[in-house]
Amino acid sequence: METVLSTDMGNFGLIDIGKSQANFAKDVPKMAKYTLADTTNDERIGMEYHIQTVTKDDKLRILKFLRRFFFRDEPLNDSIELIPESEDSTCLELEEYCSMSSLENNLSLIAVSTSGAIVGVLLNGKMDPPKDEEPGYIATCENPKFKKILRLLNYVDRSVNRDGKFRGLNILEIRIISVDSNWRGKGVAKALMEKALEIGKEKGFHIARADCSSFFSGKLCARLGFERIYELNYADYVDEDGNPIFSPAFPHTSIVTYIKKL
Ligand SMILES: CC(C)(COP(=O)(O)OP(=O)(O)OC[C@H]1O[C@@H](n2cnc3c(N)ncnc32)[C@H](O)[C@@H]1OP(=O)(O)O)[C@@H](O)C(=O)NCCC(=O)NCCS
Repeated sequence: METVLSTDMGNFGLIDIGKSQANFAKDVPKMAKYTLADTTNDERIGMEYHIQTVTKDDKLRILKFLRRFFFRDEPLNDSIELIPESEDSTCLELEEYCSMSSLENNLSLIAVSTSGAIVGVLLNGKMDPPKDEEPGYIATCENPKFKKILRLLNYVDRSVNRDGKFRGLNILEIRIISVDSNWRGKGVAKALMEKALEIGKEKGFHIARADCSSFFSGKLCARLGFERIYELNYADYVDEDGNPIFSPAFPHTSIVTYIKKL
């Protein structure tokens, strides 16, 4: 029998069906199933999902999902048209990054609807210690647009680590978060993040960190009790002529680093 465990999830109730699924990694003890709690039955139909850890069988469909959503609509990707609207192209470097991240240490999660479709993806990993100089993979990146993004992320990382206060800590890095545009604003990202924090804690990570390029992911971290430790306004990150390198659509005005002690 299903048991309601929590109702503090905005419009959602957390329901624990109390059993593992075949495609759920062994070290994650239970699967959580989420449903709309205070909407009508009609609205609820088709809007249920559960969260599971990523397995190697999910890799290709995760990429397919991210190509459709994240590659196009994450604020930085969107602002520089990483994948131009008219093109059916991809960014191989971002694909590689996603593939590499998705299976790392069973830390990544997907939200799957009752029909079996992926409706949300959260790719996580263990954060590498910061380097003083620009990492080689940035210099060798052949995609000039993606290279700009890598440079920005590296700039943020170096700024965050300037005083060395995170040295020696085991940091869970929230790398990619993406929700199907038809499912946004319904708490899917929140549910994925909560599960990731739980897993991170179980695995002994000291803190979780997210560099939020999106106003909405930032809002989510704040709501989940993360602390805002660094902010860079896109308007202040400029090229040699003083022009902003990224101008994402409002309300995405800055990239913000959030951390949470686990
Ligand atoms: C960011 C993203 C993952 C959020 O997913 P989501 O499932 O819609 O998020 P949630 O429903 O859990 O909501 C998170 C917060 O953002 C708010 N929010 C989400 N979408 C919103 C929208 N379109 N308008 C206003 N608020 C919105 C929610 O109200 C919630 O805030 P609250 O807790 O104060 O109510 C999703 O918008 C997305 O995939 N964006 C494109 C990819 C991207 O930008 N990824 C993040 C890069 S760091």
